[in-house]
Amino acid sequence: MSSLVAQLSERFAAVTGGVDPELRPATKPQFGHFQCNVAMRLAKQEGAKPRDIAQRIVAEIAIDDLCEPLEIAGPGFINIRLKNSVLASATNDLMADPHHGVPQDPNPRRTVIDYSSPNVAKQMHVGHLRSTIIGDCFSRVLSATGSEVIRQNHIGDWGTQFGQLVEQILEEGIDAATLDLAGAEALYKRAAAHFKSDEEFADRARRRVVALQAGDEQTRMIWHQLIDVSLAGFNATYDRMNILLTDEDLAGESTYNQALVKVVEDLQVMGLAVEDDGALVVWVGGFDAPMIVQKRDGGFGYDATDLAAIRHRVDNLGAERIVYVTDARQAQHFAMVFAVARQAGWLPEDVSAEHIGFGMVLGSDGKPFKTRDGSAVTLSSLLDAAEEIAAPPIALAAIKYADLSNGLNKDYVFDAERMVQTTGDTGPYLQYAHARTCAVMREAAAKGLALDTAVTVLDEPTEQALALALSHFGEAVVEVATTLQPHKLCTYLYELAQHYSAFYQQCPILKSEGAVRDSRLGLCRAVRTVLAAGLGMLGIEALERM
Ligand code: ARG
Repeated sequence: MSSLVAQLSERFAAVTGGVDPELRPATKPQFGHFQCNVAMRLAKQEGAKPRDIAQRIVAEIAIDDLCEPLEIAGPGFINIRLKNSVLASATNDLMADPHHGVPQDPNPRRTVIDYSSPNVAKQMHVGHLRSTIIGDCFSRVLSATGSEVIRQNHIGDWGTQFGQLVEQILEEGIDAATLDLAGAEALYKRAAAHFKSDEEFADRARRRVVALQAGDEQTRMIWHQLIDVSLAGFNATYDRMNILLTDEDLAGESTYNQALVKVVEDLQVMGLAVEDDGALVVWVGGFDAPMIVQKRDGGFGYDATDLAAIRHRVDNLGAERIVYVTDARQAQHFAMVFAVARQAGWLPEDVSAEHIGFGMVLGSDGKPFKTRDGSAVTLSSLLDAAEEIAAPPIALAAIKYADLSNGLNKDYVFDAERMVQTTGDTGPYLQYAHARTCAVMREAAAKGLALDTAVTVLDEPTEQALALALSHFGEAVVEVATTLQPHKLCTYLYELAQHYSAFYQQCPILKSEGAVRDSRLGLCRAVRTVLAAGLGMLGIEALERM
């Protein structure tokens, strides 16, 4: 099913010699529903008067099955008003469509989304909150448009810190299996401090890293226990937040360990990796510093691991699009990784790689959100704060919506009081709008009315505006799938809820009668469907009662 805009555009293109009419929503209701300024552009090319061109288009176009007679305004704008019957059938089509008007990508790409990715033996912090919420939204939106999504949770489960952790555990004589995530994090801090202050301990910790890499049994066992206690903590958070990630999606740094030697060897053979002061580095055009793929001590790091991950995703997972969700400060890291992978031929031109960076979460003082002792705020404490003022599904909606509704690159202030309001541009407001549509349907059912009615009458301007807004759902979703900017879907849903509100105030539903009542119930049901589908894509529960 192609969207109304697509259908209109096609009709215009037939009389503009294929030139895209670039239809825009009308700036004022009295101008109709859409506006087209293609006449100005054609006039420039042809050296003719825009008004003449507009007149020719209006005379030649075959569009009266869709629109009221076209109107020419000002120097040559063409105003377009859809027929009410067309708006009505668009709404009915949306309800008949299993995808609710969301067009399915004709060339869906298998898409790897790398998100959440917390670090073992550390609690998830606000940065992971954002990555988790945003990545989950991408996952839901891309699935909705027909892409095959492969989630990858690139947890930090490898590295020199494990030498310190294991050594500290042995020294303190703790059973790592009995720790919880908070306990593991406390241990992490003690181990790091110990490492700094005690040379002898630092030596043991370094040897312990070697033992871990060599597969020493006891070391491996403790390392595994640390991962298990961490995963239990992460999974509890995912459950609490209704996040799609499961253990199946885990592909931590350690899984690439075996591949690192080959990554570096291949880079050397290709002449891309060169020696620099004992280390192996790759110079990338446009960057001040090279990428270090192997350190002087022979160790590999975050960069080499990400190169191995790309190879795996392209070669073994068959990725055609790879999306990384981390804070914006990692932009340079990913730009370099992508550049090196392209040069090495591991990331073919037809596979896209996108890093979606996001801004920081700020406290009410406008500074990065920190606890009183200056450490990063844990994700659970944020959830606790929101749940102190609202029930869990509402608190969660508040947090997710606040995170998704601003441009991702912007920092935002974590203001629980504002976020949980049921008025204004908030998640709970949208949940509330949805719950109101459910209440109408419940009341209609109680009266014994038929609920699966079609939209047939759209005489009131608020009804027309609502039907038009409904017809834009698919476009909003496709835009997010393409540009990965979730706030566009938030804005769309917020506007839809406002149109519903205006309609609800001006058009009695259950107090009207006959075809009008049926038609209004049909609109109400369509709004409920679209709000539920849209909220679902944001990872927000569409509550039936509030
Ligand atoms: N563990 C990293 C962090 O906490 C994020 C990893 C992101 N993904 C990746 N492939 N580098 O910052």
